[in-house]
This record gives sequence, structure tokens and C-alpha cells, in this order.
Amino acid sequence: MRISTTSAEIRSQLKALRGHRSIAFVPTMGCLHAGHISLIEKARTLADIVIVSVYVNPLQFGANEDLDTYPRSFDADARACADANVDFLFHPATLYPEHGPNISLKTTKLSDCLCGAARAGHFDGVVTVVNILFNIVQPDIAVFGEKDWQQLAIIRCMVSDLHMPIEIVGGGIVREADGLAMSSRNRYLSDSERTRALAISRALTAMQQAARDGETDAEALKTRARNILQNAAVQPEYIDIRHAITLKEEQQLKHQPTRAFIAARVGKTRLIDNVAINTPLSCDGQ
Ligand code: PAJ
Repeated sequence: MRISTTSAEIRSQLKALRGHRSIAFVPTMGCLHAGHISLIEKARTLADIVIVSVYVNPLQFGANEDLDTYPRSFDADARACADANVDFLFHPATLYPEHGPNISLKTTKLSDCLCGAARAGHFDGVVTVVNILFNIVQPDIAVFGEKDWQQLAIIRCMVSDLHMPIEIVGGGIVREADGLAMSSRNRYLSDSERTRALAISRALTAMQQAARDGETDAEALKTRARNILQNAAVQPEYIDIRHAITLKEEQQLKHQPTRAFIAARVGKTRLIDNVAINTPLSCDGQ
């Protein structure tokens, strides 16, 4: 595995491969866990060369968010990438001009709900950095996790709107044995907070199960989830049921692909998770 820290370096390393080897790319902010590794393994099956980036992107953090304390563990990340047969690891010190970007991308749709509503400018920061990374790496395929479903939907939209010749592939959510969705931020949780955090996946599973049992009223499903969170003293930022692709809010579940989303604060830690919601009427049987 080759590690590069500048865009010039990775570009020159990739130059000889372009055209005759396919390239799959997994962008990350590091502190890698089994969720990230599953995306790397997926990438491995899809292309000849796998590239991972580790870069904590300042542009996607709000003023009161955890940029300074975001966990960083590059040596362990590099070992995990080597173990997962990554070919190239890109770890830039920065991707922006010294005084910040002169040019950035702006999301106009899909970002006014869910995490975008609470984190102003977050997805503008995400699409700007992913665009820069795509320009450097120029992958054929890029793999993103369904854990950040809204991010995945927005990246798909960016690639389509900007006519980028890159296939975006989604990877399923990897969970701990007890259901907690893996996240770099889980390490902020104390033991008791971690136990309370389990209410998030429990609430999502309860909505999923009720829908499978025939409940089609979104408000009734959300009430179930709200009660489960309340019993665990977990404060939701949102509990939403939305179309999986357009992210439009759904009132009644019919045949459309639908997902349930929760963001909640447990102590000081903000956690997100989501599941597919299928009714007996739906055709997509995840
Ligand atoms: P990061 O939070 O490090 O996540 C990198 C990738 O791992 C994302 O595609 C995310 O959805 C995926 N991921 C995280 N937890 C997962 C889990 N439990 N199961 C499956 N996939 C999981 O997302 C970002 O970084 C950044 O916004 C980035 C795209 C790198 C741009 O800075």
C-alpha cells in the first residue's frame, strides 16, 4: 500500500494505471471501523485498484461542532487499510488554499431536511470536498455508506447534475451486535449513554416491523419511535419517514421506496441512523 499526502503525489502514482485498470474510491474522515472496512471490501470486488482517503474536512463542520475533537487515528487507519488490501491511501494535510476556498459547491435540493436542516452548510462542505477528491482521484466507482443516507442521495445527485463519469455505489449499514450503527462518534459515549443510544436502532426496527405488519400511517409509526426514545431519555432531533430517493416526507406508505430516519443527541453526542421501511404493499423487499 502506498501512502501519499499531496494531490500531486497521488496523481502521479495513479497516472500509469489510468485507462487500463479500473479504480474504486472510498472517501473517509478516518478513525476507521468495520463500517468503513465493509465499504473498502465492497470496493475491492468492484475494481482493480482501491483508493481510500482519510481527511477530516473542516468545511463540513459547523462553528459549534466537533471539528477540533473529531477522533483522529491515522496510524491505526493505515494498518487497517493495509490489512484490507487497499492499494493507495491518500492523507492530505489540507485540500484548500491557505485562507480557505475561493470556490465552493452549493446543494440546492435534498439538503433542506434531515441533517441538512440542523447543520447549515454541512452538505455544501461535503459536496465541495467530495468534488475536490473526485477531481484528484478520478475514480470509475466511489462507494459511500447508507449510514449517511442523505449524504449518499446528495452525492448521487451531484454526480448526475455535474455529469461526472463516476458510478456511485451504496454500502449497507454495519452495526454492533446489539444493533447500534457503527460510527466514529460512538467512542464519545459513556457506558450508560451507549446503553441509552440503543433506543435509536430499537425505535427504527420497531417502525420497520410495524410497517411490515401493515401500519401505513407515517405519524403512527413515528409515535412508536418517539415513545421508545422517550423511555430511554433520548432526545430526538428528528424522526422522519421519507421517500428513499427524493427525500420528500411521506404521510401514507404505499408502494414507494421509503426510509425512516432518526437523529438524536445522547449526552453531547449526535447520532444518526436509518432503515428501509417496507409495507406488505412494497415491492422492494430489503
Ligand atoms: P465518514 O463519516 O468517515 O464516513 C466515511 C464513509 O463511511 C461514508 O460513506 C459513511 O456513510 C460510511 N459509514 C460510516 N459508518 C458506517 C456504517 N456503520 N456502516 C456503513 N458505512 C458507514 O462521511 C464522511 O466520512 C464524510 O462526509 C466524507 C464523505 C468522507 C466527506 O468528507
